[in-house]
Amino acid sequence: MADNPVAKPLLRALARERNAVPPIWLMRQAGRYLPEYRAIREKTASFLDLCFNPKLAAEVTLQPIRRFGFDAAILFSDILVVPHALGQHVTFEAGEGPQLDALKEPSAIERLRPEIDHVELAPVYETIARVRPELPPSVALLGFCGAPWTVATYMIAGCGTPDQLPARLFAYRHPQAFAKLIDILTEASASYLVKQFAAGVEAVQIFDTWAGVLPADEFRKWCIEPVARIVAGVREQIPTARIIGFPRGAGTELPCYLGAVPVDAIGLDWMTELSFARDQIQPLRTIQGNLDPLALLAGGAALDRATDGILEAFGGSPFIFNLGHGILPDTPISHVERLIARVRGHV
Ligand code: CP3
Repeated sequence: MADNPVAKPLLRALARERNAVPPIWLMRQAGRYLPEYRAIREKTASFLDLCFNPKLAAEVTLQPIRRFGFDAAILFSDILVVPHALGQHVTFEAGEGPQLDALKEPSAIERLRPEIDHVELAPVYETIARVRPELPPSVALLGFCGAPWTVATYMIAGCGTPDQLPARLFAYRHPQAFAKLIDILTEASASYLVKQFAAGVEAVQIFDTWAGVLPADEFRKWCIEPVARIVAGVREQIPTARIIGFPRGAGTELPCYLGAVPVDAIGLDWMTELSFARDQIQPLRTIQGNLDPLALLAGGAALDRATDGILEAFGGSPFIFNLGHGILPDTPISHVERLIARVRGHV
């Protein structure tokens, strides 16, 4: 029964089956809020060294499963390993977030590798192969990539920015060069996800964290179209591939996204209104989300109320409980424990 997908609540939800108790996992469930993560992180010179160390990355992937018993493990890595594998210099400075060799001019795009180098990513595939046999039979293994638009925003700016202004400006000023970059990332991402499935993941999530900063036309061009091509590219190789889309901030564009992108489930951010999502989105796809990470950090009555509201809105149809974005580093562990107990009907 070790690998019976029917026994895995998360895979059932992706197949549009309703679980009596919804499966739960949290974006960024492996990370700095866990002392056991910080202990391993201290042993590695840099964050990327941890991502590319299969033994330690596997250990970190498993930590939240051991501690909390989530229904899914998500591969420990980062969306920015893809620019690294395309030949861009990527580092993570302590406390500063990612630093990349910014693509300032159209000519910089010509200097990227035209195709992703899977040799650079071999440690990621090895991490997946190590984690899979260690998981309890009911726990699914998720892989992921960043959506081309979101990854491109970091490649162009060279760092995190509040509103992704550099990439938005670049796309207006140099639409052809930007389209070329999005094409490279689209091909690279599809190929990367296929390799993740081959290594042992059972579903993947495509993170489009910065989808919400674009006007509707640009959103369709730079978010919807490339992600639709990734889904098609992956399913060409793996027809049964289960895929979750997470276009953060898509708001009223969500029905348009779902009309064009045949993902199995849609991750909702915490701004998405519950009755809108229940009435207009859940009939189309399995919903995943969408607790405000700050409610989890706050805990107490605010957490209980927000959790109950989400369960009430979405619990009657296929649903995966998650946050509306990644868990914040200051989140108390006791709040995560309480959330899980409440979702499972214990408190
Ligand atoms: O969810 C998980 O537990 C799996 C691991 C995972 C990480 N990053 C680990 C990480 C995943 C799925 C990501 C995705 C990711 N990375 C996204 C999309 C989702 C999102 O959160 O918006 C983005 C935009 C990135 C890029 C990135 N990585 C940034 C902007 C930062 C710096 C901000 C921060 O929180 O430090 C990172 C670093 C990062 N990625 C950390 C972790 C655990 C913290 C690094 C550390 O330990 O110092």
